[in-house]
Amino acid sequence: MIIEIKKNHLESIASDCLIIGIFEDTKNLDLKEIDITDSLGTYLEDLIQATPSCSKYKEVTVIHNHHNIKTKKILLLGLGKKETFTLDKLCHISAIAIRKAQELSLLTIVSTLHLNSKIKKLGSLNEILKTITEGAILGSYNFSYYKSSEKTKEIKKLIFANCNNTSKELKPYIDEGIVIGESVNFTKDLVNSPANYLTIEKFASYAKEIADENNINIKILDENKIKKENMNAFLAVGQGSAQKIKLIVLKYIGNLIDEDLITFVGKGIMFDSGGLSLKGSANIYNMHHDMAGAATVLNAIAGIAKLKLKVNILAVIPCAENMPSGTACRPGDIIRSMSGTTIEIVNTDAEGRLILVDAITYAQKKEGATHLVDVATLTGACKVALGTDYSGVFTNDNNWLKKVLKASNKANEKMWELPCPDSYLDQIKSTFADLKNTGGRFAGASTAALFIGQFAKDVPWVHIDIAGTSDVEKTDGYNYKGATGVGTKTLIELAKDLQKPC
Ligand code: BES
Ligand code: MN
Ligand code: ZN
Repeated sequence: MIIEIKKNHLESIASDCLIIGIFEDTKNLDLKEIDITDSLGTYLEDLIQATPSCSKYKEVTVIHNHHNIKTKKILLLGLGKKETFTLDKLCHISAIAIRKAQELSLLTIVSTLHLNSKIKKLGSLNEILKTITEGAILGSYNFSYYKSSEKTKEIKKLIFANCNNTSKELKPYIDEGIVIGESVNFTKDLVNSPANYLTIEKFASYAKEIADENNINIKILDENKIKKENMNAFLAVGQGSAQKIKLIVLKYIGNLIDEDLITFVGKGIMFDSGGLSLKGSANIYNMHHDMAGAATVLNAIAGIAKLKLKVNILAVIPCAENMPSGTACRPGDIIRSMSGTTIEIVNTDAEGRLILVDAITYAQKKEGATHLVDVATLTGACKVALGTDYSGVFTNDNNWLKKVLKASNKANEKMWELPCPDSYLDQIKSTFADLKNTGGRFAGASTAALFIGQFAKDVPWVHIDIAGTSDVEKTDGYNYKGATGVGTKTLIELAKDLQKPC
C-alpha cells in the first residue's frame, strides 16, 4: 500500500472511494471543515438526517457517488459520540474503512479523517496520520495463504487530501505507522500459521531473514549447544518432539554509549499438546498459537531496528514443541535448570515457565541483560481472571512496571497488574526438588509468574501473560479473527521511551 500526502483538494483527486467520518448528535455535520462541496454536502446532510444510525460507531454506509467529485464511491463512517472518541477508536475506524474498501475492490482511497476538527484535537497531525496509517495497515490484514481461490485484492493507494504541511514533515510519522502496523501483521501471520507449516526450523529461518534484513545480530543455538549450556528445563520440554529445540538470540545495538541491555524473552512453543499431561480435545485446538510471545518479541525487535531507535535490545526466544512420546519428559521427573535450581515437573502442560526460566538465566549470565520483559501465552488462569481484553502483568520492580504500563497505554494494549508475592512461594515448593512447576488451583497466573520471578532474581523484570489476549474470536475493527499480535506495539513504544541521546 502506497500512502501519500497531497495538498490538492479532495474533490480533484481521482480515486475509487472517498472516506468521510460522521459524528453522532451533531446538527452541523462538520462537513464544512472537511471541505465538502455544497451539493454533496446537502445530499449527505439529508441522508444523515434520514438515517441517523449511519453515525453510530463502526457503522459503514456505502454510497455510489453521482456528484461532481472524481471518486466512484463514498464510504460514510460512523464515529459515534464526539465526547468519547479516542485515537484508539480512530485506529479501529481507519481499519474498518480499509477492510470495507478492500472487500469492494476499491483500491485507491482518499481519506478525510484527519481533517475533522474533533479528531484534530486528539493529538498533533503527526500522531493522527500515524494512527490512521497504522489502522489502515492493520485493516488490510487477512490470512488467506491456505485458501485455494479466495484471494483478496490489495489496496494500492491511500491518499490524505487537503494537507497543508509538506510531505517531508509528515512522512516520518506515516512511515512509523507503517512499520508498527506491519510489525503487528507479521506477528499475526506467524501466530496464525499452522504448526505443521511453521516448524521450529521454519521459525528460525524467518528470524534469520528478519535479522539479516534489519542489521540485527543473530545467533541460533541448536540442541547440542543448549545441552552444553545446561539448559535442562528447556531441553525437557522439547525432548518428546521429533523437532529439535532451538534458542534464537537477537541483538540490536542502536546506542553505543548506553549500557542498558533491554531484554525481551518470548515463549516459543510451536504446539502445546500438554505433553504426557495431555490436554483434552476442547483445549488443544489453537495451541499452535502458543508461540505468540516468540512472534511478538521477534517483530518488536525488528520494528525497533526499522525505526532505528537509540536503544540496545536483546531478544531471547526459546523454541520447542511440547509433545507426548516415548522420549517425552514425565510428570515426576526432576531436572536441574541452567541456574542450578532443581525443578520437579509435576505437570508437563506447565511447560512455558520451564523454557522461559532457562532463557532468562541465559540472557543474564551469557548476554548481560539489565532489564527483562517476558511475553508468554502462559496460563488459562490469567484468561479466567482478566478475560480477553487485558493481559496480566507481574513484576519484581514497580518502576520498571510503570514504564511498561506507560508504553502499553500509548500502544492501546490493555494490561492489568496481578500480584506474585513471596507469600505464595509455598505453593511452588517441592518436597523432592527446590521448586515444582505448578502451584495448585489458586492464583494460577500468579504462581506461574512467581516461578519465573525466582529466576529473574534482582534484575528488573516484567512478565506479560497474553493467554487471554493473543487471539480474538471475530474480526472487529483493527482485529482480524485469530491472532491479535498483542504486545508488539507495547514493546516498540517501550523502546521509544527508553531512548537516550548518543
Ligand atoms: N499454553 C498454555 C496456556 C494457555 C491456555 C494459553 C489457554 C492460551 C489459552 C500453557 O502452557 C498451559 O497449558 N498452562 C496450564 C498450566 C497448568 C497445567 C498449571 C493451564 O493454564 O492450564
Ligand atoms: Mn501447556
Ligand atoms: Zn503452553
